[in-house]
Amino acid sequence: MTNHEFASDKVNKKDEYYTKRYAIIPILKYLKENKTIWCPFDTEESNYVKVFRENGFNVISGHIVDGKNFFKYEPDDYDYIISNPPYSLREPILERLFKLGKPFAMLINISGLFDSKKRYGLFKNNPFEIMVFNKRIDYIKTEVNNSSPPFSSIYICSSLLPSQFVFEELLKESKKGVNFTQAILTNSPLINASQNNRNPLTKLESVKS
Ligand SMILES: C[S@@+](CC[C@H](N)C(=O)[O-])C[C@H]1O[C@@H](n2cnc3c(N)ncnc32)[C@H](O)[C@@H]1O
Repeated sequence: MTNHEFASDKVNKKDEYYTKRYAIIPILKYLKENKTIWCPFDTEESNYVKVFRENGFNVISGHIVDGKNFFKYEPDDYDYIISNPPYSLREPILERLFKLGKPFAMLINISGLFDSKKRYGLFKNNPFEIMVFNKRIDYIKTEVNNSSPPFSSIYICSSLLPSQFVFEELLKESKKGVNFTQAILTNSPLINASQNNRNPLTKLESVKS
């Protein structure tokens, strides 16, 4: 399935915001075990790819620089589509995701999300859920985008969350250089929490104290 109008292989530098681990962890407990996740806006360096693999999922990465344009490419077999997409293409990406019909979760800029006739129609006519956070998510800074983004992010999901609104708390990484989420992932309680469908944040808090 191809959307030729948006199938340019050029990269828009303003879309180069990369996701930190702490923003990926809240989604883990909603995923079923032993599933295959397609991360369509991610190279092998992406934290989505790394965190999902560390938690026992099979991951198919795909990025425009690897010749896997989201509007032209689709893996043969996968269960979920999860990523942080390029914001400049938010609308056509949502349109394609709903057409693909697989459960998805996309970390998306909430500003003006319903403020378009097309998006209003997409949300009105398709199943979707929202994950809201207690804090604003920040991203890995790059040369091009080196300040905090002027927007709040949420996960827009489809057929993935148990109710239309889910509220999650973010556990940001320590500013003192201890990569807290990495330490927890290495120790594996998160894996157990995820597999037993318990809240990984509860585990993270208890290990921290
Ligand atoms: C907001 S960034 C997020 C990257 C990564 N998912 C993460 O969270 O760290 C979106 C990425 O999608 C890439 N991209 C843009 N258009 C694309 C397309 N049509 N197909 C696949 N990747 C694309 C951009 O170059 C950019 O690196």
